[in-house]
Amino acid sequence: MRTLKLNNGLTIPIMGFGTYKSELESIVSALEGGYKYLDTASYYGNERDISMALEQTGVKREEVFIASKIWRSDMGYDSTMKSFSRTLENLRTDYLDVLMIHWPRPNLELREWKALDLETWRAMEDLHSKGKIRALGLSNFLPYHSENILAHCRVRPSIAQLEFHAGHTQAFALEYYRREGIQVQAWSPIGRGRVLADELIIELAGKYHVTPAQVCIRFCIQEGVMPLPKASTPERLRENLECLDFEIDDEDISRIENMPPMGWSGEHPDRERVKI
Ligand SMILES: NC(=O)c1ccc[n+]([C@@H]2O[C@H](COP(=O)([O-])OP(=O)(O)OC[C@H]3O[C@@H](n4cnc5c(N)ncnc54)[C@H](OP(=O)(O)O)[C@@H]3O)[C@@H](O)[C@H]2O)c1
Repeated sequence: MRTLKLNNGLTIPIMGFGTYKSELESIVSALEGGYKYLDTASYYGNERDISMALEQTGVKREEVFIASKIWRSDMGYDSTMKSFSRTLENLRTDYLDVLMIHWPRPNLELREWKALDLETWRAMEDLHSKGKIRALGLSNFLPYHSENILAHCRVRPSIAQLEFHAGHTQAFALEYYRREGIQVQAWSPIGRGRVLADELIIELAGKYHVTPAQVCIRFCIQEGVMPLPKASTPERLRENLECLDFEIDDEDISRIENMPPMGWSGEHPDRERVKI
């Protein structure tokens, strides 16, 4: 699989497997299908399934990249340390490839979220300097959340994970992270299926002889964003990986970039979930 190089020199695959709501069986299928980067979180409750899937498939720990996240209620120095230990225990490993803060604030009421982010980050930096984590990241951080980290960090974030898909590209944030040399990853790269019936996506799928999901995933890759699609069947897992083999032309990329907003999850770091 093609790779990309992070700002700290670590080389990771150009796409990964998203495991939110994934069970053991589909994680096994993903490993058997050739996925080498697994995105999980303590919140997903499936870190143990990942370790079982590695055991079941015989894939060695060092052959895959595993990313996990610190949940909202585990933020702060000591809680981050404890959460990290539980994550390692669940995954039956002694290091993580990537650790991220899942959301920039634990709730909307807390006014001192910047201080809490920095405490959490300090714990992650200490784990990083002990060689327990290979790269650090921020998830659901908009530029102004990240500026706080960038202004005070000893270890710069290498990854920013955002909701990113056709119809919801958060262009201002993407531009910011590009400027800062931080790799953006796309969560919900096919908008949890919400964009697959869009007219433009269907038209382009026909033009390039691929599926709508492949158009969406390929779009991420050509934007320099690392997609993390989740799928449950071996057929879909394969289909999503095969989007590495075709190219969408610049004009069509621009049409996707400029399509009307759609498919947003309703999740935002600074407000209650919007019911769509
Ligand atoms: N950082 C965060 O806060 C955050 C938030 C959300 C997600 N994520 C990460 O991003 C990953 C992906 O996001 P997501 O799971 O929300 O959404 P997604 O990957 O955009 O979409 C997954 C949905 O699309 C379906 N699907 C997959 N491949 C398909 C194909 N080729 N054709 C038709 N349908 C297809 C899946 O169905 P089946 O499963 O039934 O096959 C599933 O219902 C997550 O698993 C997680 O790792 C992170």
